[in-house]
Amino acid sequence: MFRTVSKILAVTAVSTVLAVGSAFAAPITIKFSHVVAENTPKGQMANKFKDLVAERLGDKVIVEVFPNSQLFGDNKVLEAMLLGDVQLAAPSLSKFERYTKSLQLFDLPFLFKDMAAVEKFQKSAKGQELLKSMESKGLIGLGYLHNGLKQLSSSKPLKVPADASGLKFRIMTSDVLAAQFEALDAVPLKKPFSEVFTLLQTKAIDGQENTWSNIYSKKFFEVQPYITESNHGVIDYLVVTSTEFWKGLPDDIRGEVKKALDEAIAFGNSVAAEKATSDRQRIIDSKRSKVLELTDAERDQWVKAMKPVWSKFEKDIGKDLIDAAYSSN
Ligand code: LMR
Repeated sequence: MFRTVSKILAVTAVSTVLAVGSAFAAPITIKFSHVVAENTPKGQMANKFKDLVAERLGDKVIVEVFPNSQLFGDNKVLEAMLLGDVQLAAPSLSKFERYTKSLQLFDLPFLFKDMAAVEKFQKSAKGQELLKSMESKGLIGLGYLHNGLKQLSSSKPLKVPADASGLKFRIMTSDVLAAQFEALDAVPLKKPFSEVFTLLQTKAIDGQENTWSNIYSKKFFEVQPYITESNHGVIDYLVVTSTEFWKGLPDDIRGEVKKALDEAIAFGNSVAAEKATSDRQRIIDSKRSKVLELTDAERDQWVKAMKPVWSKFEKDIGKDLIDAAYSSN
């Protein structure tokens, strides 16, 4: 009798501790680190995600957003993620080369003719498969986020490929992008995003490639007198987390977090579409930088100069993937 009573008391005590424990369990913190300004598609997507999670998951999950490379630059964030120091990031698709060769696909010059083609490919079965291409390395893609098509900015007017010969261009950490500039007889330099403005301002480099919203929000147009509207490639993002963190979340919370993320991505994509037009116009209106449009004949010359890069990377990326992406046009 005595033993039964003490057993009951012990069980009650344990369940009370558990109940109290879970009622007061520390909230899960999701640190979201990125490199761009808050007033960009990615910056706004991250803030939207934070707001949605705060609204829906209250004190169970807290999202902390660190913009402008405040927490980690783009050369460190994935390592930090694998160490558990950051839970969410959205590096450009050009920055995963150490973890997978498949995503190099998105760097091939003149692969997609517009953002509709990018979207169509990303939504296809092959595009969705790529989200899982780094699972064995401990990273999992939760979705794609748009920024937009890339333009070439420079200290001198670039109308034809020969104009770029000998110039130094900052690139993201991508061998495809290095090959793209080497095909122009230019000099590519892999540098973190956080250093680009200073490199341009001090004329340590002559140019760079980026989207309208990045050129505008980071003021590259103030230190680059010419921007060629080349639309020669794309900067899109992979919203990424560590497999360990993601699988470790309780099922119901993971589901809610994913839902908030999908909604934030849809919002970010609408910002991206709007900024591709409005930030371009702001740059033109500033008169700090001259926007050069290409004739069809000039554009053909850029295509001819850059497209041989495709065959160099065909083996690494996979011809079937390249064909599938190209057929989205
Ligand atoms: C860059 O490094 O130029 C971009 O990837 C920055 C960004 O995240 O948009």
